[in-house]
Amino acid sequence: MSAESEVRRRIQERGESGKITFAEFMEVALYWPHGGYYMDREPIGADGDYYTSPAVHPSFGALLAVQLFQMWRGMDRPTPFTVLELGAGNGLLCRDINAYATGLPEGFAAALRYICLDRRATGLVESGTPGTNRVLADRLPFKGLTGCVLSNEYLDAFPVHQVVMTADGLKEVYVALEGGELVELTGEPSGPGLAGRLDDLGIELAQGQTAEINLRLDRWSLEVAKVLERGFVLTIDYGRTAQDLYDPDARRRGTLVTYRQHVQTDAPLTLIGRQDITAQVDFTSVASAGERAGLDFLGLVTQRDFLSNLGLDQLQQKLQKHQDLSPRQMQANRAGITDLTRPGGLGEFKVLVQGKNSGRPELWGLERSQDAAALVVGLPVPLLTGDHLSLPDGRHPGGETDFEAFGPA
Ligand SMILES: C[S@@+](CC[C@H](N)C(=O)[O-])C[C@H]1O[C@@H](n2cnc3c(N)ncnc32)[C@H](O)[C@@H]1O
Repeated sequence: MSAESEVRRRIQERGESGKITFAEFMEVALYWPHGGYYMDREPIGADGDYYTSPAVHPSFGALLAVQLFQMWRGMDRPTPFTVLELGAGNGLLCRDINAYATGLPEGFAAALRYICLDRRATGLVESGTPGTNRVLADRLPFKGLTGCVLSNEYLDAFPVHQVVMTADGLKEVYVALEGGELVELTGEPSGPGLAGRLDDLGIELAQGQTAEINLRLDRWSLEVAKVLERGFVLTIDYGRTAQDLYDPDARRRGTLVTYRQHVQTDAPLTLIGRQDITAQVDFTSVASAGERAGLDFLGLVTQRDFLSNLGLDQLQQKLQKHQDLSPRQMQANRAGITDLTRPGGLGEFKVLVQGKNSGRPELWGLERSQDAAALVVGLPVPLLTGDHLSLPDGRHPGGETDFEAFGPA
């Protein structure tokens, strides 16, 4: 049964005026085992519907490896130091982090144990790295780890409820059937958690304003807190603080969008299972759900600041001096690195750092560090491979560019 058939079945199952919440619709559209958007395709890349930082340039993984290295060192070099990557997708970030870690000092690579967790099994990039495991799951079947729970563009893929403020108060958006067509309609909220979230945040929606709310954050934070005995949570995604996200002037219609073949639209009830549906992350709520679960807030910065603090400029400079690249390869690598911090693009993404039993260390990614820069200067600059995108070549992985492995800079 396709995702759309399952949506219709669920609505009909609920009787004459049957309806399901938008969140339930989104869960089925994205994750129904037969034809849910994420379940039988590789959505990322030129042939997919969008691209993410790991695909843009391996510098992203390299600088994350530098941050992980500093966390490990600050924790007195535990072995193993486990990185649990949630929503790891094709595993490209895992491969890039592990590759760069081999050049980091003090035996970090030997201590690093990497677990890629995802609820789908498609499009895996070969990691070839010992100490790397892949787990298929949509919950977190671990506890007591020492290390870091890491994710990139994972929370934005969680199903969200949609609410709208009307003259009659807060209503929720549902999906129903009218004359055989799927339609959106509004009704009383499905539970008290929606108004409760806005109250907690001190947000009053303006009349006519639509907003998305992820009600799974508390459960997720509790699971993450249980996974970690000691360490950090690094969450990277597009999103904003609640005040900014729910600003009635800037985002009156909310932030829910659909993506197909790199075109952004706003029609979630069409192409069910064939387009991505996503909403920006409310980082204020992620942080406060974390605090309730026992995860300390350590910082929230833009991806631009985070990567710059960790030595992105040094990587750019090293690249410029690389002797063995053709002009085209140089251009592709330069464009990829630049894109990671582009204003209005990936540079605006947020990096949230939380900790558990880890004290309040000064983390390189949160405050610019000469030590991070010195490390990066001493290591080869990572270069695009055929598994990454090539921006000048129309973002085509591989494309016409020759991406064989190059020697160190
Ligand atoms: C937008 S993709 C990002 C993939 C990858 N992190 C990247 O940056 O390219 C989101 C990924 O999260 C996975 N995902 C979403 N919800 C999940 C859950 N509850 N448990 C495990 N994986 C999940 C999806 O299957 C998908 O691979």
